[in-house]
Amino acid sequence: MRSAWLLSAGCVLWVCSLTAAIEPISTSIAVGMAAALTGFLAGYQNMFYYFNECCRPEWISYNKTGLKYDLDTKLYGQHVAGQVILKAVTGFMNNKKPKKPLVLSLHGWTGTGKNFVSQLLAENIYVKGMESSFVHLFTATAHFPHEIHIDTYKTQLQDWIRGNVSICPRSMFIFDEMDKMHPGLIDSIKPYLDFYDNLNGVSYREAIFIFLSNAGGENIVQVALDFWKDGKEREEIQLKHLETALSLSVFNNKNSGFWHTSLIDKNLVDFFVPFLPLEYKHIIQCGLAEMIAKGHSPDKEVVEKMAHDLNYFPKEERVFSMQGCKVIPSRLDFYI
Ligand SMILES: Nc1ncnc2c1ncn2[C@@H]1O[C@H](COP(=O)(O)OP(=O)(O)OP(=O)(O)O)[C@@H](O)[C@H]1O
Ligand SMILES: *[C@@H]1O[C@H](CO)[C@@H](O)[C@H](O)[C@H]1NC(C)=O
Ligand SMILES: *[C@@H]1O[C@H](CO)[C@@H](O)[C@H](O)[C@H]1NC(C)=O
Ligand SMILES: [Mg+2]
Repeated sequence: MRSAWLLSAGCVLWVCSLTAAIEPISTSIAVGMAAALTGFLAGYQNMFYYFNECCRPEWISYNKTGLKYDLDTKLYGQHVAGQVILKAVTGFMNNKKPKKPLVLSLHGWTGTGKNFVSQLLAENIYVKGMESSFVHLFTATAHFPHEIHIDTYKTQLQDWIRGNVSICPRSMFIFDEMDKMHPGLIDSIKPYLDFYDNLNGVSYREAIFIFLSNAGGENIVQVALDFWKDGKEREEIQLKHLETALSLSVFNNKNSGFWHTSLIDKNLVDFFVPFLPLEYKHIIQCGLAEMIAKGHSPDKEVVEKMAHDLNYFPKEERVFSMQGCKVIPSRLDFYI
C-alpha cells in the first residue's frame, strides 16, 4: 500500500528525499533525526499534498452524500440507473477488502447521461473529478482507431492500466464506445477485471472500470415504450424489467455480442446499468439546467421552444427524444 503511493510522481518527494538523506547515517541517529524531521516536515508535506494531487485520502475519498445529491438533483429521468449506481459504488467503496475491481457497464440510447453519470461519479470520488490524474477516459474511435495497430494498442493499454494502478490502486478507467472497441482489445483487459489476488505483484482490486455503450439501447427503449403504451408510469420501471431485455439484446447483437458474451460468461461485469430514453419533460429540465450553466436566468419559454423543435420517436406519438439531452448545449444558442 505504502510502496504503491511512494511511487506516485511528485506527491511524496518529501518522503523519498528524506529516506535517501538518512540512509548513510547510523540507524539510531537516523531514527532520532527522522523523528525530529517528521514533525517539521509534516507541515510542509501537508502543504505539498494540498497543491499536488496525490493518491491519498486528501484527494481521493468517496462522498456518498454528494453522489446521492447529484444523482437526485442533476440526473433527470434515470431513476433505475441512479439507484443501481449509488448502491454499487457505495458497496464497493465501503468494502475494505474487495475481491475484484468494480466493473460497471452502462447501456442506453444516445444522450441519456452515460458520460454525465461517469463524470458525477468521478467528482464524488476524486477532488479533481474528471481532471484527476487517476481518472482515465479511453474512447474506442479516438484512442484505438486503426485495426492494423491492434497489437500495439493491446500492449499499450495493458501497460497503461498496470502502470497507473501501481501508482494508485484507486484508479478509474472509463471506456467509452465500448461497442466499437476491437474484441481483441477487450480480451486484453479481461485479466484486470477478474478475481486475482494480484497480477505480477500489482493488485487491481481497488480499481473501478466503467464501460459505456449504446448496446441494448433499443431494447431498453422497447421496454419503456411498452410501459408507456400500457399507461404505466415511467417510475414503475424497475431494474428487473430491463435486465432480460438487456442481456438478450446483447447476445443477439452482432457487433456487441462478442464482448458481452465473454464478459458475461466470466461474470466480470458486476452491474449492468440501463439508461432510459428521455422524454420531453426531461429535455425541458436539461434545457433549464443548461441555461443556468451558460449564465442566463432560466427561461421556460425559450427552453420549450427549443424542446419542441427537436425530434422525437415514435413519429406519431413523439414520446422519446431522438438525441436525448446531447444536442441541447449547441441548440439552445439559437433560441436565447
Ligand atoms: N439524464 C440526464 N440528466 C441530466 N443531464 C443529462 C442527462 N442526459 C444527458 N444529459 C446532458 O447531456 C449531455 C450529454 O449526455 P451524455 O454525454 O452523458 O450522453 P451519453 O449517454 O453518453 O450519449 P452517447 O451514447 O451518445 O455517448 C450531458 O453532458 C448532460 O449535460
Ligand atoms: C459531500 O457532498 C456534499 C453535497 O455536495 C457536500 O455538501 C459535502 O461538503 C461533501 N463532503 C465532503 C467531505 O466533501
Ligand atoms: C496512465 O494512463 C495514461 C493514459 O490515461 C498514460 O498516458 C500514462 O502513460 C499511464 N501511466 C503509466 C505510468 O503507465
Ligand atoms: Mg457518451
